[in-house]
Amino acid sequence: MIFMSKTTVSVIKADVGSYPGHSRTHPALLEKAAKMLKEQEGKLLIDSFVTHCGDDLELIMTHTHGVDNEKVHKLAWDTFLECSKIAKDLKLYGAGQDMLSDAFSGNVKGMGPGVAEMEFEERGSDPVLVFMADKTGPGAWNFYLYKIFADPFNTPGLVIDPSLHKGFVFEVHDLIKKRRIMFTCPEEIYSMLVYIGAPSRYVIKHVFTKDGTIAASTSTQRLSLLAGKYVGKDDPVMIVRSQSGFPAVGEVIEPFCTPVLVAGWMRGSHHGPFMPVGLPDANCTRFDGPPRVLCFGFQLCNGRLIGPADMFDDPGFDRVRARCNEFADVIRAQGPFEPHRLSLEEMEYTTLPAVEKELSERWEPIPE
Ligand code: F6R
Ligand code: MG
Ligand code: MG
Repeated sequence: MIFMSKTTVSVIKADVGSYPGHSRTHPALLEKAAKMLKEQEGKLLIDSFVTHCGDDLELIMTHTHGVDNEKVHKLAWDTFLECSKIAKDLKLYGAGQDMLSDAFSGNVKGMGPGVAEMEFEERGSDPVLVFMADKTGPGAWNFYLYKIFADPFNTPGLVIDPSLHKGFVFEVHDLIKKRRIMFTCPEEIYSMLVYIGAPSRYVIKHVFTKDGTIAASTSTQRLSLLAGKYVGKDDPVMIVRSQSGFPAVGEVIEPFCTPVLVAGWMRGSHHGPFMPVGLPDANCTRFDGPPRVLCFGFQLCNGRLIGPADMFDDPGFDRVRARCNEFADVIRAQGPFEPHRLSLEEMEYTTLPAVEKELSERWEPIPE
């Protein structure tokens, strides 16, 4: 009998320092991380790929140990620690910024780094897309996951492919009350939109087929909620499975052709267009942004990562990039006014409360 073990894909990321300012990861960090993961191939890991999106160092790993595995998380943590040391030696900006704790305690969740993972039995051919974002928060994926897995105007497979026709189940997390709910779609799309339309609080964590097979997984930590103060945006990652029962690769990347406003950008305090880019453009520049997203496509082969293909490095995405730039010009002109600046409620998790504290004594009642 052939032993069929499941494959786990783990994408773990952290900002441990960048140059200049918060714009991009230094090659010395990428080299160190790649080397540390390579040393574990054939041992803890099957395969690995290291890259970056803006100032975030992205570790893409495959193995057979399942999600939340202590050894895999410890490897990621140690890798970020070693890279933080290099960042400190080079006096890179924000060196070690996402390492919110001094000691590893079994799992990187809640310690600063972002994690998206999934475990599944590999199909005969298994395409996987890894999305990595900079200068935005985890709710940024809500719009896209809805379009990919619930909107037939984006994904014709939902209408014409019998294997997608039943729809999907969405697991939505409430980041403030730390609770979750499952929505069955298309039956419950209106109810689900009540929540996922408010992406600063409600985020889609997983998408499953109706028989419970994992289809998508995202990172959902909010650093400011963990740290109790503003410590940078969360710059989320997402893994999406594709083809043969899942949306086609082209259906998965199609919603990124719409310029969508997300929260983040300068000082984590502004709405701005989410721009899909190839790796050469995965560096945040204008006004520390605009927020951007990178997508690497792989075929899995017994856990090996065949690829990557840089999915947004394509003239097919030139128009959305141009539209994002136009959007950026329009919204930037509003300067410190909402809705370019985030709402006061969301600004609670930025550096604004410190300014408000200074002024608190000067407020007095309006005379009758
Ligand atoms: C946003 C981001 C940057 C910084 C900005 C100020 O997520 O990382 O826009 O917020 O450059 O950085 P500090 O406060 O480190 O000077
Ligand atoms: Mg940074
Ligand atoms: Mg970042």
